[in-house]
Amino acid sequence: MKILIATQKPFASDAVNEMKRVIETAGYRACLLERYDGKQQLLEAAADADAIIIRSDIVDDDVIGVAKNLKIVVRAGAGYDNVDLVAATKNDVIVMNTPGQNSNAVAELAVGMMLYAVRNFYDGSTGTELRGKRLGIHAYGNVGRSLARIALGFGMEVFAYDLFCPVDVIEKDGVKPLASAEELYTVCRYVSLHVPSTAETRNSVNYALLERLPANAMLVNTARRDIINEVDLEAFMTERKDFRYLTDVAPSNDSIMKEKFPGRYFATPKKTGAQTFEANSNAGVAAAGQVVDFFRTGKRKFQVN
Ligand code: 3PG
Repeated sequence: MKILIATQKPFASDAVNEMKRVIETAGYRACLLERYDGKQQLLEAAADADAIIIRSDIVDDDVIGVAKNLKIVVRAGAGYDNVDLVAATKNDVIVMNTPGQNSNAVAELAVGMMLYAVRNFYDGSTGTELRGKRLGIHAYGNVGRSLARIALGFGMEVFAYDLFCPVDVIEKDGVKPLASAEELYTVCRYVSLHVPSTAETRNSVNYALLERLPANAMLVNTARRDIINEVDLEAFMTERKDFRYLTDVAPSNDSIMKEKFPGRYFATPKKTGAQTFEANSNAGVAAAGQVVDFFRTGKRKFQVN
């Protein structure tokens, strides 16, 4: 059995060593394809793979089509919008993710970005504090929950809106549930996005939602680029000189945004939310374990298709 670990953005080497140990101890072969250059290399490596472990790597119809032995793809992370689920299902390929394994890392980055912005990008001028401010968590999954825990520690007043999470789960964390995204963006000066990218959520953070934000608002996006309507965001930032946007998933108009909105716009050069040793180890080793469990016992926990 060949288990391919295909990561354009590699895991920390200690995490990879542990993944290999888990795979090889179970009697399978671990193959590593890191920092690969384009799809062709992935197609070649996937051709004889029985399982593929990925991060944000694109596993589309072509990859699934060429991998004739493929039985399982595990996305070592939360979002699986990079995997063609229809093609996988059609070819009897199981797709899993590893929910929760990298959520603390992403939540810490969201807080870090907020701090960076309220201290004026550390330029030495007088900033503000997070304590006492209202934070709206847009979607209350694993990352949202981790963020709530940290933000409450900072003394923020924390609100959340989630279409699927029961109100009592939110309340139990000391967080105030709100009934709609519209309400969240009206009530909260700081909003952090944790929405998955789906047909329903793409472009859903648009002008109509943004214009509800109170004065001196800030939006932090450590989720996915396409949730935001980029044209609307640029227009809103042009009008609302008090508004700041911080993101770990740079928009396609990144260079224009940088030029137009200095001091109010920041994007990491590369998606870095889950890029900690702990998150790499947690998600990578969980993925390796899930592949091994699937082959050994047929366990399908965390299957998403
Ligand atoms: C996730 O969905 O788990 C995060 O966005 C992390 O993605 P990455 O593994 O590409 O860093």
